[in-house]
Amino acid sequence: MPVKFLPISYADMFDLADEILYSPKQSAMLSEIKSDVRAHFSDHPNRLEHIEGVALSARCLAMIYRADPFICECAGYLHDWDKYLPYDEMISEVSTYKIDMGVDPNLVFPLLHGKISARKLKGKYPDLPEEVFHAIDTHTTGESNPSFESAVVYIADLIEPSRPSYGSIKKTRSMVGNVDLETLYIEAYKSTLMYLINTDKYVWPRSIDIYNKLTHNNRVFN
Ligand SMILES: [Fe+2]
Ligand SMILES: [Fe+2]
Repeated sequence: MPVKFLPISYADMFDLADEILYSPKQSAMLSEIKSDVRAHFSDHPNRLEHIEGVALSARCLAMIYRADPFICECAGYLHDWDKYLPYDEMISEVSTYKIDMGVDPNLVFPLLHGKISARKLKGKYPDLPEEVFHAIDTHTTGESNPSFESAVVYIADLIEPSRPSYGSIKKTRSMVGNVDLETLYIEAYKSTLMYLINTDKYVWPRSIDIYNKLTHNNRVFN
């Protein structure tokens, strides 16, 4: 059976960052995105540090797991674009974009920014591949059959270097380069779910369905 990933650990994966060669068009696009993101989060330095960590982690994980680094890095930079949207605006955007969470959006407020950002940014960056927006859309909710790129961004959001290394984050980091992307994704998904339960947070009902499909429907990626 062919090896589907490079056996490179979390500690070493950041050395891969310089090995990526983007086309001039991709480099120009990424420069524009980086500069937009830095301006957008100029009042939120900690969030910017997180975002840059996610983009870097996504770029390196993409190399290990044979995903598209450009898509992963773009989504990494843009995934939290609407994180600080004021409450009223967040709720009204849900209506504007006809986002159906299946429950009162107030119950799943922390999940909304991914859905809204994906839709809004499609208008701002029409030349980016659709998969960038899909990865942004699902970075808060996860999904039962993610693309490689969506899985990479979801995992990068959890294990980026500015998050403290403990518990399930430490465990997920230790699995990078040792297990396939599907196993790593399921671990990251379980980590998020367990965090919600352990901190008495509301669990989006569809998360349970996704968990069951991920863990009991055999292979996730085709
Ligand atoms: Fe987010
Ligand atoms: Fe994030």
